[in-house]
Amino acid sequence: MAPDPSLASVAVPAALPGERVSGSRRSLLRLPAVYRPDHDSLLLAETVAAEDIVGARVMDLCTGSGVVAVAAARAGAEEVVAIDVSRRAVLSARLNLLAAGPRTIVRRGDLFAADPGGMYDLIVSNPPYVPSEDEELPTRGPARAWDGGTDGRAIVDRICREAPRRLRPGGRMLMVHSELTNHRRTIEMLEREGLEASVVARRDIPFGPVMESRETWLRDTRLIADGPRVEQIVVVRATVPASGDVLDGSPR
Ligand SMILES: C[S@@+](CC[C@H](N)C(=O)[O-])C[C@H]1O[C@@H](n2cnc3c(N)ncnc32)[C@H](O)[C@@H]1O
Repeated sequence: MAPDPSLASVAVPAALPGERVSGSRRSLLRLPAVYRPDHDSLLLAETVAAEDIVGARVMDLCTGSGVVAVAAARAGAEEVVAIDVSRRAVLSARLNLLAAGPRTIVRRGDLFAADPGGMYDLIVSNPPYVPSEDEELPTRGPARAWDGGTDGRAIVDRICREAPRRLRPGGRMLMVHSELTNHRRTIEMLEREGLEASVVARRDIPFGPVMESRETWLRDTRLIADGPRVEQIVVVRATVPASGDVLDGSPR
């Protein structure tokens, strides 16, 4: 399909680990208002690219432009299911995944409600996670990509509760979010579901426009302390034990 000239083009790094690219950069297509791949997208994409996922069935929840789904496809996944609630994101991801190689299914919907079904070897997500003054999440507009409710965990918690049930024995989950969103709680929730979970990647990043715009509120609510305007993003990796075990007392 010929690219639509109205699509904004966004650069993504050629330097996904393990990837050989002759040009200096590749780019993804991105419709207006679709989340522009940022430090979090890239940290997650790098972590995905470092996983052994040849032949795997992968779900990318909150796919946006599809940048992480593309990384999974390039890393050798056999099938990639990409889900987003935004129509524009779904169209962008479809276009970007056209050339990605493996079987790809891009669906619009609210998290797992759009899951075509079956079990996964890997579930990845860069969900909305920035703490926001309003507990109610936006239903439209760019903020839907980052607002996570007052503790930033409205979507994160739903993923922690549901993803483990869709992973095969030995299956993995990789989720990126800010330390402000409390990665210890993410780890606890996943461990409660029987997974082994830990932080596998961290990166300090300068505040972007979203953090800057709510800096006063974040300081007032003590979600951030006085000091440098830097936040740390982390990738949590969680694994289902391979032995085919028991979840909540019942077999998977
Ligand atoms: C932070 S962006 C990440 C986009 C992309 N994965 C990346 O790393 O660049 C979060 C994405 O989540 C999507 N989203 C928000 N709420 C959602 C929901 N309930 N179900 C599915 N997608 C959702 C937004 O539309 C947005 O594209």
